[in-house]
Amino acid sequence: MNPAAVDLRVRLGRLELEHPLVDASGTFDLVETARRSRGDYVAAFPYAAYVPKTVTLDAREGGPPPRVTETPCGMINAIGLENPGVAAFLEGLSTIVGLRRPVIVSVGGNATQEYADVVRRVETALGEGARRFPDVAGYELNVSCPNVPGGLAIGVDPQLTAEVTRAARAATGRLLLVKLTPNVTDVRPVARAAVEAGADGLSLVNTFRAMVLDRSSLRPFLGNSTGGLSGPAIKPIALRMVAEVAEALPGVPLVGMGGIMTGVDALEFIACGATAVAVGMANFTGLEAPRRILDGLRAECAARGFARVTDARGVALARGA
Ligand SMILES: Cc1cc2nc3c(=O)[nH]c(=O)nc-3n(C[C@H](O)[C@H](O)[C@H](O)COP(=O)(O)O)c2cc1C
Repeated sequence: MNPAAVDLRVRLGRLELEHPLVDASGTFDLVETARRSRGDYVAAFPYAAYVPKTVTLDAREGGPPPRVTETPCGMINAIGLENPGVAAFLEGLSTIVGLRRPVIVSVGGNATQEYADVVRRVETALGEGARRFPDVAGYELNVSCPNVPGGLAIGVDPQLTAEVTRAARAATGRLLLVKLTPNVTDVRPVARAAVEAGADGLSLVNTFRAMVLDRSSLRPFLGNSTGGLSGPAIKPIALRMVAEVAEALPGVPLVGMGGIMTGVDALEFIACGATAVAVGMANFTGLEAPRRILDGLRAECAARGFARVTDARGVALARGA
């Protein structure tokens, strides 16, 4: 089969995507890339949708340095929620108004109200001048943020996750995804709670809490002591979690991620039930990563006789496609 003939289009809830690849939040700064490439990159943005780094109501400094290091088959980061706050975020977004892809705004906070406030601020800005911005198609709630004062991530608690989802749902009619944390014994109760509270789909997984030592001092290497592990090291666990959620909640669109470096990695997530897939760490290998992975996905579908990428969805699951 000719790879060029493979139909890569997918439908993520109400959103039509040209192909299944999006960037994973926090791993691709299109505003900065566009600034450095004088805007050329915006029109040719290779991902089917743009997911920026998580934005919070107010600016955050993030964690103390060092914040990133390499690990065997992966990387660990403790960037924290560093971001300029929603007002500056919207200014940045207006500089990529030429983007022809939908934007899915990643939202964070430390309390239910903060999530809803960010969504409302974006909705208000769009209401006042949608033409100043690219097409904001929806939101992804990053529930890996700690709940203050408790300190545990919101996403480890089904009830808190439902609360945050419900508040955001009330603030927007656009696509609403909830991005699950893998740092739980069983991800399914949280997944179910998010969907019952109004999420249109789920993204999974965020990074795994992990630790790296400075080998000479035997002290924690990262300024924050612990960080989040990503990359190929987490792929088998992420695949298991995507498959579990796909089987528990058939019909709910999933964005799968964790260690996707090649086309066949992406296809594996689709086989486990994902509708779309997000590329994270691979973005740090170079700007050509998304095109390479997309071409790979096309070739891997063709080699297996999948005329449509959707034909591969769920083939790894017990119940089949
Ligand atoms: C440097 C870095 C920053 C990240 N920042 C965010 C973020 O702001 N919000 C979020 O939801 N996930 C964030 N993530 C997690 C990724 O979006 C993704 O869930 C995770 O890295 C797994 O995908 P990967 O193995 O392909 O990197 C970040 C990951 C990395 C490596």
